[in-house]
Amino acid sequence: MTSQITLRRPDDWHLHLRDGNMLRAVLPSTATHFARAIIMPNLVPPVVTSADAAGYRDRILSALPEGSTFEPLMTLYLTEQTDPDDVAAAHASGLIKAVKLYPAGATTNSASGVSHFDSVRPTLERMAEIGLPLCVHGEVTDSDIDIFDREAVFIDRVLDPIRRTTPGLRVVMEHITTSNAVDYARSQDETLGATITTHHLVINRNHILAGGIKPHYYCLPVAKREEHRLALRDAATSGEARFFLGTDSAPHTDANKLLPCGCAGCFTAPNTMSILAQAFEEDGALDKLEGFTSLNGPAFYGLPVNEETITLTKGDPVTYPSHVETPDGPVTVFDPGFDLNWRVE
Ligand code: DOR
Ligand code: ZN
Repeated sequence: MTSQITLRRPDDWHLHLRDGNMLRAVLPSTATHFARAIIMPNLVPPVVTSADAAGYRDRILSALPEGSTFEPLMTLYLTEQTDPDDVAAAHASGLIKAVKLYPAGATTNSASGVSHFDSVRPTLERMAEIGLPLCVHGEVTDSDIDIFDREAVFIDRVLDPIRRTTPGLRVVMEHITTSNAVDYARSQDETLGATITTHHLVINRNHILAGGIKPHYYCLPVAKREEHRLALRDAATSGEARFFLGTDSAPHTDANKLLPCGCAGCFTAPNTMSILAQAFEEDGALDKLEGFTSLNGPAFYGLPVNEETITLTKGDPVTYPSHVETPDGPVTVFDPGFDLNWRVE
């Protein structure tokens, strides 16, 4: 029985760090276990220009715990006013590693996102030329499309047309939640990658809604039926290079979660590696964990793998604090609903 595994240090290819007090409170949770993370740009106001990204990067670096070597990989928030030259310059200087596409209105702070996909075509074409990946929040926003169908409809109506009209564009389907997305990713060439969150490997929609509503399990895209969760588990543990970890760890204070209209987001940064080890072990795939957390992402982004390692040891159940405290109030840590036996040393 395996009781210890050592992996190259993992990276998180989709992370929300916020700003100010929240940034300082949540950053250590990620920097403790992860070497790098793709930082989401949906601040208020969003990180739209290279100057915005440079300023945000500086604030992240100054919030790091003393001695930490964590590296934030910055992104720009795509708007219909985005200047392709600014994007290309930010890429050429090494400042940004991706551009993020939010359909307008799809999720938290996405109001400045894209409504008319034709208007961002010049930027997408430039990105294809220079090899800069597009990270996509893949949900349509039409009120007449059922929320549980929005990802599948987005693939047909938006993503596949973008792929066809912008050949060569590297695209990450982010936080995929359906077997439709798994199948689509598998049907495409190596210019398409897909991230999977920790929580979508663990919960289905029953966990949110059966036996009382669980605001801390509410995120976007919302968790789907069990058959979809199983498809995600199969993808994550398959060892296929196109699938890699993007936690979408998205902290909100409890005050903002526990409202009549609460925010979307699961805060998984503190216990993600323990949860993943438990899940991969359950599926007999511990040997695939390193690919998912530490190898496939760098390969997609054309970055070196980390030389440092982390070790996980199996033993008595480990506990994580139920909350991270911030000056604005507590942020609840994601509760997977089962014991965690894998401890990060
Ligand atoms: O659950 C989510 N929370 N999904 C998103 O797409 C955004 C994120 C956030 O920023 O809170
Ligand atoms: Zn996100």
